[in-house]
Amino acid sequence: MTKLRFEPSGYEVEISTGSRLVDVTDEHPRADVPYSCRSASCGSCRVKVVEGAEGLSEADEDEIDVLDIFGNEDGVRLCCQITMVKDVPRLVLEVVDPD
Ligand code: FES
Repeated sequence: MTKLRFEPSGYEVEISTGSRLVDVTDEHPRADVPYSCRSASCGSCRVKVVEGAEGLSEADEDEIDVLDIFGNEDGVRLCCQITMVKDVPRLVLEVVDPD
C-alpha cells in the first residue's frame, strides 16, 4: 500500500499498485483535482510530484506533448494519466493551479 497525500487539500488515502489516480480521485473528491478531458488533452489536471515519483507509470508521448505546452516543469504530470506501478511509502501530489 502507498499513502497518497494531495496538496493543498491535505486529503490522504491509501492506494495499491495498479491504481489509476483518476479512479482514486473520482472515489475521493476531497482530493480536489480539477479534471476536464481525462484524456491527456487539456492539461487541467496537472500535479507536481513532490514525493514518490518512483512508484508512478512513465509519461507517454501524449502526456509529454501536453506537458510541453505548459512549459514541462520538473516533476509535473497529468493526474488523469498516472497509474501506480509499485508501492512506495508515501506519494505526495501538489495540484497545479490551472489558471
Ligand atoms: S483532465 Fe485533461 S489532461 Fe487530464
